[in-house]
Amino acid sequence: METVVSGIRPTGMLHIGNYFGAVRNFIQLQESYPCFFFIADFHSLTTHPTPGDLHGSVKRVLAEYLAAGLDPEKSTLYLQSDVPEVTELYLYLNMNAYLGELERVSSFKEKARSQPDNINAGLLTYPVLMAADILLHKGTRVPVGKDQEQHLEMARTFGNRFNRLYQAEIFPEPQAFSETKELVKVPGLTGAGKMSKSAGEADCIYLADPADSLNKKIMRAKTDSGPAAPGEQPSQAVQNLFDLMHLVCSSEVCAHYRETYNLGTIRYGDMKKQLAEDMERFIAPWREKISDILADDALLARTAALGAEKARASAAATLQEVRSLIGFRKFY
Ligand code: ADP
Ligand code: TRP
Repeated sequence: METVVSGIRPTGMLHIGNYFGAVRNFIQLQESYPCFFFIADFHSLTTHPTPGDLHGSVKRVLAEYLAAGLDPEKSTLYLQSDVPEVTELYLYLNMNAYLGELERVSSFKEKARSQPDNINAGLLTYPVLMAADILLHKGTRVPVGKDQEQHLEMARTFGNRFNRLYQAEIFPEPQAFSETKELVKVPGLTGAGKMSKSAGEADCIYLADPADSLNKKIMRAKTDSGPAAPGEQPSQAVQNLFDLMHLVCSSEVCAHYRETYNLGTIRYGDMKKQLAEDMERFIAPWREKISDILADDALLARTAALGAEKARASAAATLQEVRSLIGFRKFY
C-alpha cells in the first residue's frame, strides 16, 4: 500500500518553489492515497526562532496549505510538534546514525559553512528527524523538491538499517516523488540558485506577495548585458527567467521570447513585464484566500485538532511495534 508523507519547515511565507516542488503534488496525491502533510516546526528550531516568530510562521503555513487546496478531511494535516511520538522514533534512529555519514550530508556542510556560530547537534541529526517523520507513518512516497533527494536517501538507509537490526520488515522504502517525474528545482530571482527563503526576500516570489512588490521583484531580477552569440546558451540568470516563465506563461509566450532571444532582438524589460503579469494572474487568487483563512482562528483550530488526532493514531501504532521490536516490555 502506498502512503504519502511530506512536510515543510515554517520559516516564513510559502514561495512558488515550495508550491511547484512540493504543495502542488500534495494536492494531487490527496485524491488517491492516504496522505500525511505536516508543518515541520521541530525542524525549524535549528535556527533558533523567537517564540513569536515560530508561532506566526506555523500559523501562516497552515493557512497557506489550506488556501492552496489541501483538504483536512481527505489528508491528515498536522503540526509535527502535536505528535510527540516522532521525537521518540528520532531517539531510536539516532542510536544507529553515525557521525561520519551525518557529517557528509550536503545540507549539513552548507549550513556549517553559512552559520559557523551555530553548528548544533539538531542540524547534524536533521536527516534523522526527517527519516522519523516519514517512517512514523510507514511512508512510501515523499513529494519534495530536488534539494531533498539526499535526505530521502538517508531515510531509506535508516529505515533499512532498523529493519536489518531487528530482523523485521517494519519500514518500507520511501521514494522522493514528483508528478513531473523529474524532481523540481525552481530558480530564485537573484540568480544565486534554487529559490530559497534563506537567499533573502528579493530571491522569492511568495504565494501571498502583494501585486506591487511582486512586480518590483521581477523587474529587478538579475539578467545580463544582452543575448549571447547565436546558438549559445543563455546565461544562468536569463535561463532562470525562462524557467520561471515555463511555470506560469503559455507555451506561445515562452516560444516567442525564446525566438527573440535566439534572434538577438529580445528586450529583457519586456520579458520581465510579461513574466510579472502572468505571475500576478497566477498568484492573485491565493492572496485573498490566505488573508481570509489567517483571520479564521476557528478553522485553523479545527484543522490542527483533527490532524493531530489522526496523525497520533497512526504514530502510536508504529511506535507500539517499534518498542516491542527493540525489547521494551511493561512490568505493570
Ligand atoms: P526553503 O528552501 O525556502 O527554506 P524548504 O526547505 O522549507 O524551503 O522547502 C520545503 C519544500 O519545498 C521541500 O519539499 C523542498 O524540496 C521544496 N522546495 C523549496 N525550495 C524549492 C525550489 N526552489 N524548487 C523546488 N522545490 C523547492
Ligand atoms: N527537510 C524538508 C525541507 O527542508 C522538510 C521536511 C521535514 C520533510 N521532514 C520531512 C519533507 C519529511 C518530507 C518528509 O524542505
